Amino acid sequence: DYEQKVAKLKSKIKSYPDFPKEGILFWDIFSAISDGPTCRLLQNLLVTVIRAKYPNVEAVVGLESRGFLFSFSVATELGIGCLPIRKKGKLPGEVISYKYDLEYGSDILQIQKDSIRPGIKCLIIDDLIATGGSITAATNLLLNCKADVVGCLVIMELISLNGRSNIPNGIPVHSLIKYD
Ligand code: PRP
Ligand code: MG
Repeated sequence: DYEQKVAKLKSKIKSYPDFPKEGILFWDIFSAISDGPTCRLLQNLLVTVIRAKYPNVEAVVGLESRGFLFSFSVATELGIGCLPIRKKGKLPGEVISYKYDLEYGSDILQIQKDSIRPGIKCLIIDDLIATGGSITAATNLLLNCKADVVGCLVIMELISLNGRSNIPNGIPVHSLIKYD
C-alpha cells in the first residue's frame, strides 16, 4: 500500500533536463501538486512516515522555499509547530545564523531564536536532497541552537550524490522517492 502510493506519486513528478543549468535534471515537485488528489496522497505519505518513524516530534522545520509547502501542511495535520529556516535577512526579531560554504562563495541560514528552545525534538523537511548542502547546514544551525534533530524527511533523493553522508551525528534521512 505504501509502495503503491509512492509509485503513484512518482508517476506524477515531471523532470526537466538542463534546468536551471545545462547538465542538471530538475525534478519538479510542483508538477505533482497541481493536482488535488496528488496533494492529498503526498500529504498522507509524509504524515504516515512521521507518525511511524518520529512519533514524538514536536516541530517540523521547513527549508526555504519549497520545504515550506510541506512543513506547514504536515504540522497542521499533526498539530505540532512549524518553524522556518530562511536565507539571511528574511526573518524579523532575534535570529541565530549559520554560515556555510557553497561551490562559489558562501551563504547564511537563519532561524528565529524565540521559536527554538533547547531540547526541542524537531524534524527537518524539504522537497529534495541533492548534495545535502542545504540539509547539512540546516542541521548544523539547529544543533548550534541545542535542538534535538530527530531526522530529516524529503520527498525526493538523488542517490548518486550521496548527500545524506554529509549530515552530522548520524541523523537519519528518510526519502519517499529515490532517483539514481
Ligand atoms: C533546492 C531544493 C532543496 C535544495 C537541495 O532548493 O528545494 O532545498 O535545492 O539541494 P542540496 O541538497 O544540494 O542543498 P533551491 O535552493 O533551488 O531553492 P528553492 O527551494 O527556493 O526553490
Ligand atoms: Mg529548496
